[in-house]
Amino acid sequence: MKTVVFISGRGSNLQALLKDQSGYEINHVFSDRKSAYGLEIAKKSAVNNSYINWKNKQQAENRTLKLLESIRPDLIVLAGFMQILSTKFIACYPDSIINIHPSLLPAYPGLNTHQRALDAGELMHGASVHLVDEKLDHGPVIAQTLINILNKDTAETLAEKTLEKEHKLLPFVVGLMASDNIQCSKNRVIFNGQTLTQPITY
Ligand code: GRF
Repeated sequence: MKTVVFISGRGSNLQALLKDQSGYEINHVFSDRKSAYGLEIAKKSAVNNSYINWKNKQQAENRTLKLLESIRPDLIVLAGFMQILSTKFIACYPDSIINIHPSLLPAYPGLNTHQRALDAGELMHGASVHLVDEKLDHGPVIAQTLINILNKDTAETLAEKTLEKEHKLLPFVVGLMASDNIQCSKNRVIFNGQTLTQPITY
């Protein structure tokens, strides 16, 4: 399964995907930041990569779509990509864009998820991989990984523990999507022939 990854920063999830590549291959990495360490990771792994300046969103999306036309990916993975894709862009790749987010969605879309979970006195935290729609960190959740919040946890320790779990969750979901076990259609996730009503726990 031809997969492209969009990043903005350090690219540790990209690294985890590159290491795994079971049933899928990473064909291209896009970054909206020139200095993103993830671009170095792509280069070191000899994966094609492009920096696209997103100052003008419409132009950036058009340029990206043009490049994607020649790559023809089966799946686009947003792994720490800090831009919100337009409805028009998403419509070009229906049911084929996923995002990883460090919270148990639908709780805590957006930033500072670890601190917000702590402030709310949550007992559980984790990360989610979901199909992307036009809203921020929104769309059917495919799978989640859970962690217990301990009394001694801080935003930093939670971030560390969550990230470690993300590195397993994301390759797992991409691997599942590459297999026949999961299909996405009309903004629904079908797992083993049934519409998924609860995220898969990983
Ligand atoms: C991850 O926590 C991911 O869930 C969020 O952004 C972070 C990206 O980290 N969307 P990295 O660039 O993959 O290291």
